Amino acid sequence: MRGILMTLAMFSSAAVCAEPVADLTGAARQQVKAFATTLGGTLKASMQKDGPVAAIAVCNTEAPAIASQLSTDGWQVARTSLKIRNPDNAADAWETQVLEDFSARMAAGEDPAGLEASVTDDGEFRYMKAIPTAGLCLTCHGAELAPAVEAKLAQLYPQDQARGFNVGDLRGAFTLRKVLEE
Ligand code: HEC
Repeated sequence: MRGILMTLAMFSSAAVCAEPVADLTGAARQQVKAFATTLGGTLKASMQKDGPVAAIAVCNTEAPAIASQLSTDGWQVARTSLKIRNPDNAADAWETQVLEDFSARMAAGEDPAGLEASVTDDGEFRYMKAIPTAGLCLTCHGAELAPAVEAKLAQLYPQDQARGFNVGDLRGAFTLRKVLEE
């Protein structure tokens, strides 16, 4: 089933929020769509025009730039993973738990397009949506990388763990947060 909203009961709070959770989830989905479309389009265009090594620079600078452009109205938009390339994208406890749950559900055959999670905890709404690995991603996240790609990644990300993925693996997730007004 698509679009299941998983709420982790142990984190849910009884706080009455000014904005209903359904509205926040809808807004979070819009943010994810904007992020994915903008970054995906920029990445694809750059790969086609200038090749993968130049496109690494796009991910390096454009991904955080697009994330911060979308981080308005109290939203914080980012990406995370269990195997990260940029240490700034490290998952915290809740994100790790959700990513492990997403991986288990994908291993059990669930469609990654429907994997999302949200929680309201300590005055903050949080939302995550799974990012599956597509063929295009393997150029920079696969097991075998071209030497020039390898060299550029080694230079920018000496602690890179985001390699060895296959098509259909969970690559990571979009992760959003918004502080709720009292
Ligand atoms: C041209 C090389 C390249 C391609 C192709 C590419 N990525 Fe990445 N990816 C990167 C780089 C570089 C970073 C680090 C970005 C940063 O510094 O925030 C990254 C980071 C990420 C992250 C953030 C978590 C982390 O590891 O730091 C996710 C999630 C991700 N990529 C998913 C994908 C997916 C899904 C695809 C295919 C649709 C893809 N990438 C294709 C180079 C690439």
